[in-house]
Amino acid sequence: MTFAARMQQIAPSPTLKVTAEADRMRRQGIDVVDLGAGEPDFPTPEHVKAAAHLALDQNFTKYTPSAGIPELRQAVCQRYETDYGVGFKPEGVIITAGGKQALYNTAMVLFDHGDEVITHAPYWPTIPEQVKLAGARPIIVQTSPEDAFAIHANRIIEAITPRTKAIIINSPSNPAGALISEEGLASIADEAARRGLWVIADLTYERLIYDPVAHNLPRVLTEKMRDRAVICSAASKAYAMTGWRCGWTIGPKAFIAQCNSLQGHSTSNVSSITQKAAVAALTGPQDGVTMMLNEYRRRRDAVWGWLTADPRITCVKPRGAFYLFPYVADVLEAAGFKNTNEFAEALLAEAHVAVTAGEGFDAPGFFRLSYATSMERLKEGTDRMHAFIARRSGQAAGAATARS
Ligand SMILES: Cc1ncc(COP(=O)(O)O)c(C=O)c1O
Repeated sequence: MTFAARMQQIAPSPTLKVTAEADRMRRQGIDVVDLGAGEPDFPTPEHVKAAAHLALDQNFTKYTPSAGIPELRQAVCQRYETDYGVGFKPEGVIITAGGKQALYNTAMVLFDHGDEVITHAPYWPTIPEQVKLAGARPIIVQTSPEDAFAIHANRIIEAITPRTKAIIINSPSNPAGALISEEGLASIADEAARRGLWVIADLTYERLIYDPVAHNLPRVLTEKMRDRAVICSAASKAYAMTGWRCGWTIGPKAFIAQCNSLQGHSTSNVSSITQKAAVAALTGPQDGVTMMLNEYRRRRDAVWGWLTADPRITCVKPRGAFYLFPYVADVLEAAGFKNTNEFAEALLAEAHVAVTAGEGFDAPGFFRLSYATSMERLKEGTDRMHAFIARRSGQAAGAATARS
């Protein structure tokens, strides 16, 4: 079968693949500890669910404007005004099917064949894949665990060429939980404004930052380059609403109108019920977000301690999101694995623990572990992992002795 050329440029999502495999095993009755999924284990808050029930009861089940209902576009503006002190207008907001569509629309509207789009690694795999789908070329700036995967503005700026169209910054980042500093983003924005480039901020994890730190990226972008700044975010992670599919893009009015044209010919509006629920999430009480953040912090600290009890495993403590991204090259060597893909596959098959190999994030030697799972399951998962590593290391050492 021959498929469109664009499909030859992209690979299936490695994170969704792990989840699907873990699901398949669970359906066979296997007790899988799933540390692969990138979604909150908490239920959606009650008042949000109540808004959805009400929408159904009131038969709010028809098409809505493709860009979203006015009250939700307004609710997004209100949220950013409250959280960041930045004013946006509803015409500058479009409601999308998750952060994924927010970024996808952006890529399709802005990038052309021959364009270069700079982003940073380790990255969430969808970011470069969407750039490629739009026909453009992702240019990857590496960050490193030595300085906690800090996103350095000067390295991003050095990667700019005459072909550069845009820079995508993901902060807090998936998978490393790294943050860009306000000063760093300001330097990038200054340079981008000077050269007429777009800056796209993926703020999907914006509400999940552990320490009080200056991270007012919307303010930096609007002050420096409002006419070429795009913010993509979602209700998914902050409000435990991954399955509802609600995100948004904020940007210049003319750009949002283009996103709306595209969306109008592809998916149209996000589910009407979801939109009513998202209004409740954004405008209702926010204490659930804080509760979840506090629990994620407790888990982050606990799992970090359990994992790094093995001196061969090193791990930066993430500043945001809900993933640990340990480096396990020494474990791979001791246990006889060629790469983290092999390691993760064997870990799932033998110990029934799902994690995502680093190769998919452009970070060989690492794997991603999501701690959006109960403390008990996290303990069970890390215990099984340690036992698996000990068993495989013993086998590899035994095989080496037998050979010599
Ligand atoms: C960095 C990043 N951006 C965007 C998204 C999109 O999230 P969703 O489409 O579920 O809202 C994700 C989801 O994992 C993510 O990790």
